[in-house]
Amino acid sequence: PTPVIIDCDTGIDDALALLLAVRHPALDLRAVTCVAGNTDVDGVVRNTLTVLEQAGAPEVPVARGAERPLIESVRTARHVHGHDGMGDLGLPAPARRPADVDAVTLLRREILASPRPVTLIPTAPLTNIALLLRSHPDVVRNIERIVFMGGAVATGNANPVAEFNVWHDPEAAAILLTAGVPITMYGLDVFQRVIVPGPDVRRLRESGEPGTRLAGELLAHRGPATDESDPGGGLGDAGAVCAVADPGGLTTHRLPVEVSLAPGPARGQTIVDRRARPGESELHGGTREQALVDVALDVDVTRYVKLYLAAVER
Ligand code: BDR
Ligand code: CA
Repeated sequence: PTPVIIDCDTGIDDALALLLAVRHPALDLRAVTCVAGNTDVDGVVRNTLTVLEQAGAPEVPVARGAERPLIESVRTARHVHGHDGMGDLGLPAPARRPADVDAVTLLRREILASPRPVTLIPTAPLTNIALLLRSHPDVVRNIERIVFMGGAVATGNANPVAEFNVWHDPEAAAILLTAGVPITMYGLDVFQRVIVPGPDVRRLRESGEPGTRLAGELLAHRGPATDESDPGGGLGDAGAVCAVADPGGLTTHRLPVEVSLAPGPARGQTIVDRRARPGESELHGGTREQALVDVALDVDVTRYVKLYLAAVER
């Protein structure tokens, strides 16, 4: 299986991503690191530990990371994810505590210790990842790829043009994009499209197995989706994990991407250059550092929903 590490802000859909990473046979979840985002970092740690216990993976190491973005202040998304950051489902408190090392230390240790290059899956603001890449650039040699949920080619969600994870810590996202590691951007354009149909969500909720039932509860919280008569739930961040387990379900184009860092209404926007003709930016006097990123432009929704259900009902 592919060694993976998830860096998350659990989070309803981060929890769906963790459940998939624990249960998919092609993935080996080596560690989980936590960062402030959907809720404060201590809430994220608690939610993450609880989800791993419910998923039957209480042994996966979990570390607490950055409690605020590099420059911005914390701006949670409790209006979306509930007061506890995970839908206020009344889940039990976790039985264990996080590792006694911080997220950057755990990331470095697990990446360098892995016998095969690791795929990192950040599903949260990129603060921990930026701190890791800047303080320990040696990790790059054992990173296969970074598949991150963040950014948008078209419309944003935190503001008209910016996606929440990049908007929350734009400098961190810029550091990631220019780190010289192969990167896949699983942005809002595909993120919003992968929806589990209502009947499947209902079946998951009725399961006697705690992890499967939790997936159903979380998906139900994300609904109703597009069709009011058949409310389903979006996979959200879990789609980025699908993209690692089954890259063939995603259509990507290698394009220049830059994060807008200037103050103002476009701060946090990912500017994706879809003109993509080599040399064009030079022709127009472009001199700034633009990273080439594999940007997800299309997704096979049925394929990823099937993959998700097969794994969590295993
Ligand atoms: C992202 O923001 C968070 O609220 C979700 O967990 C997801 O990672 C979507 O913009
Ligand atoms: Ca998230």
